Amino acid sequence: MILSQFRPLRPYKNLLALLAFLLTVWYLLFWSGSSGSALESVQLEKYMQQSPSVPATLVKSSVEWSNITLRHPPKEPLIQLPVLDKRKRLRRVQHAFGPESIADRRVREERRRAVRGRTINDWNAYRKFAWKRDALMPISGGGRDQFSGWAATLVDSLDTLWIMGLKEEFDEAVAAVAEIDFGTSTTSTVNIFETTIRYLGGLLAAYDLSKREVLLQKAIELGDLIYSGFNTPNRMPVDNINVEGAKGGQGLNIEGRVVSASPGTLTLELTRLSQLTGDPKYYDAIANVVELFYLGQNETALPGLFPMWVSMSNADVTSGSTFTLGGSADSLYEYFPKMYALLGGSEPKFETLTTGFMETAKKYLFFRPMVPNNDDILISGTVNAWSSNETQLGPESEHLTCFIGGTFALAGRLFNREEDVEVGARLARGCAYAYRSFATGIMPERYNMVPCDPDKPCKWDEEKWDTEKAKWPEYLPHLPKGFTTARDPRYILRPEAIESVFYLWRITGEKEWQDFAWDMFQAVANGTATPLASASVRDVTIAKRELEQEDYMESFWIAETLKYFYLAFSPPDVIDLDKYVLNTEAHPFLRP
Ligand SMILES: *[C@@H]1O[C@H](CO)[C@@H](O)[C@H](O)[C@H]1NC(C)=O
Ligand SMILES: *[C@@H]1O[C@H](CO)[C@@H](O)[C@H](O)[C@H]1NC(C)=O
Ligand SMILES: *[C@@H]1O[C@H](CO)[C@@H](O)[C@H](O)[C@H]1NC(C)=O
Ligand SMILES: *[C@@H]1O[C@H](CO)[C@@H](O)[C@H](O)[C@H]1NC(C)=O
Repeated sequence: MILSQFRPLRPYKNLLALLAFLLTVWYLLFWSGSSGSALESVQLEKYMQQSPSVPATLVKSSVEWSNITLRHPPKEPLIQLPVLDKRKRLRRVQHAFGPESIADRRVREERRRAVRGRTINDWNAYRKFAWKRDALMPISGGGRDQFSGWAATLVDSLDTLWIMGLKEEFDEAVAAVAEIDFGTSTTSTVNIFETTIRYLGGLLAAYDLSKREVLLQKAIELGDLIYSGFNTPNRMPVDNINVEGAKGGQGLNIEGRVVSASPGTLTLELTRLSQLTGDPKYYDAIANVVELFYLGQNETALPGLFPMWVSMSNADVTSGSTFTLGGSADSLYEYFPKMYALLGGSEPKFETLTTGFMETAKKYLFFRPMVPNNDDILISGTVNAWSSNETQLGPESEHLTCFIGGTFALAGRLFNREEDVEVGARLARGCAYAYRSFATGIMPERYNMVPCDPDKPCKWDEEKWDTEKAKWPEYLPHLPKGFTTARDPRYILRPEAIESVFYLWRITGEKEWQDFAWDMFQAVANGTATPLASASVRDVTIAKRELEQEDYMESFWIAETLKYFYLAFSPPDVIDLDKYVLNTEAHPFLRP
């Protein structure tokens, strides 16, 4: 009786089974993206972690940097890494990506292959013509050493090789890293900022990905050299470490004035080094600098922001009247939310520092430019300020500033400020707009636009543009409508625009970002190509069959620019932003 009750349901059941079968077939045929992609990072790891094809043997540096007696040792007890609250879960950063259609996947993979192909080509050129040099000269086929001669491009590229699954190349590079001598430099001083972000960042990220012990050993050697840069009377870091002076331990001369990004961009790397070694001294060193910025944040002419120039010798980060998020300051701000993430949210000062700078930047630095199609975009300018009611906006922006869209989106997610994710999107669209506007499809290093009056509707007004551009001696008739100058018309292989586009893609999942990324890649790949590799372009404001180039390939081209392009076309689990935080040179550090 009971069974018979179910009888009428049987045909229905069969129908359900058929439907389920059809759905499965349809899913497998057209939407297989998500199941495939969920595995990619795992597969990559398995493949890359097979035993190295080239053995790496550690050759210790000629100076034992950890063994120097410091004239100015740190105050005891050392500041310890904040205790991680294991129950605290940070807000999810990445968009919850659903399954991907076969068609979308095909397009994405094709684009990804193009980026990978270009990277392999340029790496091979470096390997052939400039092996162990700091940078390749991509036209003449020579090499240059401007970062102490420790093979900057090689160290900077390690994690890119890993992420792209280039195992033999990676193994060979690790073997070369094992022999670097951080005891001698081609220059008498070592720049603490560049050394930290490119070399230390590169080593730590490559270690986090591969767990090859020799990379951590080298990171510690270099970290101890960088640590010697804090051997000053007030324990603030120098900008340039005098190598001979540092070896003696007698204490270093500290500069009177440095750009704020220099002391402000050591936090992530030194913190990660303390996390990995369990030695708190690196974190202690940088925590003092953070405290200085934290206490000074509301004491500047524009509370929230820091002047572009600061003084470490006077421990003064509040005097000064020029404010920007561009070059000289940029990564100071970028590291506030990233430090919050790297510390698992256990240091609330980084939330205060982040939200404080964001509020002020929105009020004073960002402007909506007047453009012919009335796009609702934002540009970040420069402000001279003597107090918060005596400010003057300079409507000049630069390629370096383009990182800020990504930082706003990241911080917006982390701190549950969705309106700031949208501000980040408008900033990143501003950079994409600038790329699109120029005849070569590439944005120049520096340019000016016309700010709209924030209290009036922002409508294109050709007469106003004519009046404005006439005020600029640097105006050139071939500049696109809306631009009044391109004071520095170069493109030097910089990553910041694609960096923000990558963040916006991973954070919002909106397709427009992948299309921006592809347009940018095509233009950049075309304009920078040399017969050997990739080079800076002298003037991107004029389209010609052959753009004039400079014989130099920055190490950040493979470390950052090509990596961000590649990640923008990779499944979202490859360097998942909920697992990693990237330093300002695009080196991913594992989050706790
Ligand atoms: C460290 O320094 C001490 C004395 O200052 C010296 O005896 C020792 O050999 C040094 N160790 C290394 C590894 O250089
Ligand atoms: C700076 O001002 C902000 C906003 O008023 C406040 O939240 C923050 O705590 C202040 N910072 C310090 C160090 O007092
Ligand atoms: C702003 O201007 C007003 C008067 O115009 C002045 O009283 C006030 O002190 C100024 N505020 C600052 C921070 O300078
Ligand atoms: C490459 O750039 C040049 C100069 O801007 C342009 O003339 C050419 O059409 C571009 N080629 C492609 C394939 O985009």
